[in-house]
Amino acid sequence: MTYRTSTAEGPIDFVNVLDLEKMAQSVIPKGAFGYIASGAGDTFTLRENIRSFNHKLIIPQVLRGVENPTTDVVFDGDTLTSPIIMAPVAAHKLANEQAEVASAKGVSEFGTIYTTSSYATTDLPEISQALNGTPHWFQFYYSKDDGINRNIMDRVKAEGYKAIVLTADATVGGNREVDKRNGFVFPVNMPIVQEYLPEGVGKTMDYVYKSAKQALTPKDIEYIAQYSGLPVYVKGPQSAEDALISMEAGATGIWVTNHGGRQLDGGPAAFDSLQEVAEAVAGRVPIVFDSGVRRGQHIFKALASGADLVALGRPAIYGLALGGSHGVRQVFEHLNNELKMVMQLAGTQTIADIKKTKLRDNKYDSSFPFDPDTLNLV
Ligand code: FNR
Ligand code: LAC
Repeated sequence: MTYRTSTAEGPIDFVNVLDLEKMAQSVIPKGAFGYIASGAGDTFTLRENIRSFNHKLIIPQVLRGVENPTTDVVFDGDTLTSPIIMAPVAAHKLANEQAEVASAKGVSEFGTIYTTSSYATTDLPEISQALNGTPHWFQFYYSKDDGINRNIMDRVKAEGYKAIVLTADATVGGNREVDKRNGFVFPVNMPIVQEYLPEGVGKTMDYVYKSAKQALTPKDIEYIAQYSGLPVYVKGPQSAEDALISMEAGATGIWVTNHGGRQLDGGPAAFDSLQEVAEAVAGRVPIVFDSGVRRGQHIFKALASGADLVALGRPAIYGLALGGSHGVRQVFEHLNNELKMVMQLAGTQTIADIKKTKLRDNKYDSSFPFDPDTLNLV
């Protein structure tokens, strides 16, 4: 199995996070880049994710005596540099030879929560070493086989993971047409689950999903919580009803997402679902938000709409491709600096102030200097 990709490590010269997608395209092999950048079906939902932040407007507050806004948050007993965290992304080795070792290091140096994917291309102990004590969560692709599930939970507990994230929106792979056109063959091993994958699995994402449990129910949340004794975040609810079903089964956090537009095409932008979920959850459990976050103002709007933490997927992976651990840290720092600038201009000193801010509905045309349709997705 020889797959060669970027070996970059060091500073990236960029103006904004949107620029990174095209820059990363030149250092990641075509099939892998298509897998990372693209989405499902017509990529309608993928594009809506970025557009949807224009549905709400930040009303500047002036004369508020704000200076040097702070993004620190205390979450579950840990002081984080920022509410921006790392989303679970499969196979970092597609983007950089250093894979999860570099991304975990970059996130740890920045000082926030790292989420390890079940489909990581680095084994748990090496990821732990690179994390160097930063709080970490494990994203669980739940298997049909209970023995496998218990074995994974045992290993995750032994590595000091603080929470399990049950991905509920990917019981099969979405319709990834770019992968079909590119004949993308999954070229790297996934050591956390590799020994359990049926013969041939690991070659394409279609095979990978054969090990996952399709018929997930709220009982699975109960079981994970009871067996692991860890908090369980459910990644996928996009309605009040699904958030409440998850909480009744013992979910200790709700992760509002549409998987970066990679799963159900034709669904809403995740940002458009956030407010409804936040109203239903009503502060009883934390809310994590992701999908389409590319700007400091996106993060501000998500926090003002009820998110407690905001996760990055692709932007962090582009940072990894272009600058290794340094690049990952730089992407987090860049977005956090944009967030601070927005906070200053919006008259909010702290993250708690953002959460009290009311956004205004945008009843005007939201045409946009950056057109997501121009993204080079193939
Ligand atoms: C993902 N995502 C994901 N989610 C998950 O629960 N387990 C996984 O293994 C993966 N793998 C994965 C691979 C790649 C290449 C991408 C881009 C995404 C989804 C991820 O956690 C997150 O929901 C989205 O990436 C958020 O959207 P943005 O930030 O990429 O727009
Ligand atoms: C993906 C899976 C691995 O989005 O979650 O490709």
